[in-house]
Amino acid sequence: RKARSGSRRRRHWERCSCRLTRTDSDVQVLVLPTPDTAALAVAGFLAQTLRRAPDVVLGLPTGRTMIPVYRGLVRLHESGLADFSRATTFNLDEFTGLPPGHPGSFRAYMRQHLFDHVNLPRGAAHFPRSARTKGSAYDRLIERAGGLDMCLVGIGRNGHIGFNEPASALTAETHRVKLKAATRRSNAYLYGDRPEKVPKFAMSMGIGTILRARAVILLALGAAKAEIVRAATTGPVTARVPASLLQTHPN
Ligand code: F6R
Repeated sequence: RKARSGSRRRRHWERCSCRLTRTDSDVQVLVLPTPDTAALAVAGFLAQTLRRAPDVVLGLPTGRTMIPVYRGLVRLHESGLADFSRATTFNLDEFTGLPPGHPGSFRAYMRQHLFDHVNLPRGAAHFPRSARTKGSAYDRLIERAGGLDMCLVGIGRNGHIGFNEPASALTAETHRVKLKAATRRSNAYLYGDRPEKVPKFAMSMGIGTILRARAVILLALGAAKAEIVRAATTGPVTARVPASLLQTHPN
C-alpha cells in the first residue's frame, strides 16, 4: 500500500514538474522549481491538514523562509480554505530578555505574518519564553495539548533547526541557547539589519521536542541552502548537523 501511494505521489509531482526522491532514510526530498511554488506547496499542505484535522497541534518556526508560507496560508484562510478556529500552535523558539511586545520578538513576527490575519483563538498560540512556559515545562505543555501533530521547521546554513546549533551533543528538551554569530546575523532582518542588536540568547524546542512530532516538514528556499540540505538528508546523522537527526524520524 505504501509503495502504491508512493508511486501515485510521484506521478502527481511529475505532472507538477518537480522531483520527489527518497533517501536511504525515511526522508522524502521534494524539489520544486521556484521558492514561491515550494512555499505555496507547504501552505497548501498545512491548509489541507487543518481541513482534515481541525484540532491539529502545530509546531511553527519564524525566519525569512516562512514569510511566503504564512502569506499563502493567510490567502487560503481568506478564501475559506484554512480554518484555525480549533488549532493550537507552539512556536519553536523565541529570544530571551525582550520586553513584552518587542517588535523584534518572534511573537511580533508571528502576529505580523500570520496570527493577526487568521482566526486562531487568543491563547491558542504558545511561545517558549513566557515565565509560565520555561524550559522543559514547555514540553509538558505540548504533551498536555496532545503532542505536536506536525512540526514545520526551517534550516540554518549551519544545519540548525529551531535554535539547536551544531554541537558535540544536542539537548533533547526545550532549553536556553546562546546563539552563534551566524545565527544572529541571519536574524538581523528583524533588527534593521544590525546583528549586534539581535539578542544573544533564546529559548528553543530541543531536538527531542521536534522529533516527538508525528510529522516534520523542513522547508529550505534558494541555492544557498542546497549544500546543507544535502548534508542533512543524505550525510551522516550527527550533532554537528542538527537537521540530520530528522533522518531518524519515520515521517
Ligand atoms: C526560527 C527558526 C530557525 C529558522 C532558520 C532559518 O524560528 O527556528 O531555525 O528556521 O534559522 O531561517 P531563515 O528562514 O531566515 O533562513
